[in-house]
Amino acid sequence: MWRVKSLDAILATAEKKSLHRSLGPLQLTLLGIGAIIGTGIFVLTAAASQKAGPGMMYSFVIAGAVCAVAALCYSELAAMAPVSGSAYTYTYAVMGELLAWMVGWALILEYAVAASAVSVGWSGYFMGLLESALGFDWPDMLSAGPVWTLNGFVPSASFTADGAGYINVPAIIVAMAVTLLLMRGTTESARVNAILVVIKVAALTAFIALTIPVINTGNFTPFAPNGWFGPEGTTGMGIVGAAASIFFAYVGFDAVSTAAEETKNPQRNVPIGLIGSLAICTIFYLLVAVGAVGAIGAQPVVGADGSAVQPGSAAFAAACALAQNADQLVCSNEALAHVLREINFPAVGNALGTAAMVALPSVILMMIYGQTRIFFVMARDGLLPEAFSRVHPKWKTPHIVTLFTGMAVATAGALFPVGQLADISNSGTLFAFFMVSIAVLMLRVKDPNRHRPFRTPLVWIMAPLSAAGCAFLFWNLPHDAKMVLPIWGGIGLVVYLLYGIRKSHVGRGIVDVPELHPDAPPGPVPPMPGAPSPTDDHDKR
Ligand code: ALA
Repeated sequence: MWRVKSLDAILATAEKKSLHRSLGPLQLTLLGIGAIIGTGIFVLTAAASQKAGPGMMYSFVIAGAVCAVAALCYSELAAMAPVSGSAYTYTYAVMGELLAWMVGWALILEYAVAASAVSVGWSGYFMGLLESALGFDWPDMLSAGPVWTLNGFVPSASFTADGAGYINVPAIIVAMAVTLLLMRGTTESARVNAILVVIKVAALTAFIALTIPVINTGNFTPFAPNGWFGPEGTTGMGIVGAAASIFFAYVGFDAVSTAAEETKNPQRNVPIGLIGSLAICTIFYLLVAVGAVGAIGAQPVVGADGSAVQPGSAAFAAACALAQNADQLVCSNEALAHVLREINFPAVGNALGTAAMVALPSVILMMIYGQTRIFFVMARDGLLPEAFSRVHPKWKTPHIVTLFTGMAVATAGALFPVGQLADISNSGTLFAFFMVSIAVLMLRVKDPNRHRPFRTPLVWIMAPLSAAGCAFLFWNLPHDAKMVLPIWGGIGLVVYLLYGIRKSHVGRGIVDVPELHPDAPPGPVPPMPGAPSPTDDHDKR
């Protein structure tokens, strides 16, 4: 189980089943921005404020800094091994099959659960628009999942009387619609992706332009009502707890590395795409955070006894149900649109809501696509059943795994609140980023002479900082989200011992060596969303 798949073998497999290299630096950066800007900024700004108050501006800085050092580590590996599979593949090359499997397994939390979170975020904007633009009141029971608690290892569901519903129907609809699109092979063209990015960026720009001029400095005090780590007895609260949650807003830049196989001159362009998209989004996020806090304030609501309450909890739902809290930023499911309505720009608020509604499905698409890609690569290595890489004869998509993923995404979206899903997704992502940070160092030691087109600057400082930052944020997630990773990991271990350990291609000696199969035909790997297909390219010529 410690067997590694050598980097040469990984590159050979990718070469054999190669994808068309068509993405340039701009497209890649747009792809990154397309995957990054989503529910995190449009919706979770409210949850971050509930945890930290105006201090959530610092939370954006902390989470952005951890992502920045992680992106530098990703860049080195992605430039060196420009193949699909991202963190899973790098870990396979460096730390062996078992840990690679565990990373791949954790990436399910990152991608599939993130897709669920974004579906729930979309649902909030959808219902908000129905209500404020059309005056239609969507039934509460069908608008949100129940509130769940996890006591130790025993999950216990509890329906609350107010605030939470039973099932989130819009989240199911959007997740399944995206799944069907992906199954039918309707990949976004690079142009559609670029348009959606422009819509999102325009919405955020309008938000910044309208809120910054009406900043009221009084709204910044008290700045950190819950301190850095939250009041005694709480987990995942305060500025640091909010950073662990808002980390979700930055997730997605690593999707750039999964497109490495479809990139022209990946050694140069992948680092540009990774770091460029992250840098642009960070600047937008900081300005949006300042604008939101400054314009209408971001003080947390408190429980009946005056104590701090977790967003998404029953106590939080009860506090938000009080009439005096109805207009609070922290209680809104469509945070940014709400701010604009509060400062008397209801039409722009609705337009921003529409922009979010139109553009968020592209994040869901990237996430479900990323998930199927990870499954695909794991199945290509024999660690998952062959069926996971089966391709539909007519649609040319991995329809089985896409449908399976979509149904799981819709189910989680139907039953869980957005914040909880985002925190769970963060736990898996932070684990994957942690492993990438370690892998980059191990590879410097094990294989110092390999050509590195991009070298992480000051790697012996940056990589440990990245690993420590990921561990720190993980530690500051709410207790329940933290517990999901070991439980999920335990299940993964059992699956590996029952299946992957015997079926692994590396284990069975099926390793691709370049010289042996130079003329093998390309495999049926579907193109990345946003990548012009080889046919498009041909048509243009
Ligand atoms: N960063 C992505 C979002 O915020 C996942 O929706």
